[in-house]
Amino acid sequence: DVQLIHSFKGIPFPTRVTIDQLNSLDRFEAREDDVLLVSYPKSGTHWLMEILKNLYHYRLQGRSVAITQPLEFQDPAKIHELRNLPGPRLIPTHLPQQMVPRKLQTKNCKTIYVIRNPKDTAVSMFHYYQRNPHLPKVDKWSTFLDMFLKGEVVYGSWVDHLISWERSDNDENILFVYYENLKKDLPKCVREISEFLGVRVTEDQVRDVAKKSSFSEMKERVEREKARPDNNHTVCALTSDRKLIFRKGAVGDWKNHFTAEQNSQFEALLREKINSSELASNVEYEF
Ligand code: A3P
Repeated sequence: DVQLIHSFKGIPFPTRVTIDQLNSLDRFEAREDDVLLVSYPKSGTHWLMEILKNLYHYRLQGRSVAITQPLEFQDPAKIHELRNLPGPRLIPTHLPQQMVPRKLQTKNCKTIYVIRNPKDTAVSMFHYYQRNPHLPKVDKWSTFLDMFLKGEVVYGSWVDHLISWERSDNDENILFVYYENLKKDLPKCVREISEFLGVRVTEDQVRDVAKKSSFSEMKERVEREKARPDNNHTVCALTSDRKLIFRKGAVGDWKNHFTAEQNSQFEALLREKINSSELASNVEYEF
């Protein structure tokens, strides 16, 4: 079997992200106008990126905003290309805060962190493990949930990831966005995001951004794409194939997967840490 997972500083990574890439993170040349899009995998990364891309489209008067490879998936040989990109550069990453290059942190870059109910995140990741050829097959949901709760999945523990960013020194430049709020009132969230980024948009534009980033529109657009997945345009380091992303896009799918016993297991293993985090406590666990 090909090895699909390896560990770096105690955290499981897909081997698609090489140790070389992880070791060269500090070579990243940060700029003040860089915008970081941070998420634990399966929290709505592609959704947020679509919103940001459309917002900047107005700000840049029709020019496309530069979206870089994920921070952990940069090709060190392409450092010049990265340097030549016009700002602002949108940089996605699934890295926990302690692995992000110091240089990015000291520039006080604007950062958006997407949070999703961990139960739905676990379900989404379980299906991703089945379908994504860069991840090992885990056939049984109960086996996968066990791994998830122990933090033995790509990018480690959900709650540790969130806490690392919640306690960041740069916290006044971080906007935390909940997936469930995006589902509840997308135009309101788009307005909040645009204010945070200082991108002025009209109400018509807010509606347009919300429409273009709806689940059905995004899914249809991707399904119509004929081009093969392009490794140079990757929002999530776990895949360049966007056809793998749009599964259900729903809140509460965990109820179709968790047994009562698994729900108690979740509480027993994560509750204490969740209670120690304001952001994690604010997640709506019941629907
Ligand atoms: P599901 O597997 O539950 O459907 P990421 O982009 O971080 O990999 O997250 C993927 C998850 O976000 C998937 O969840 C996907 O369906 C969901 N998603 C992507 N775009 C969405 C949208 N516009 N609206 C709602 N959910 C979306």
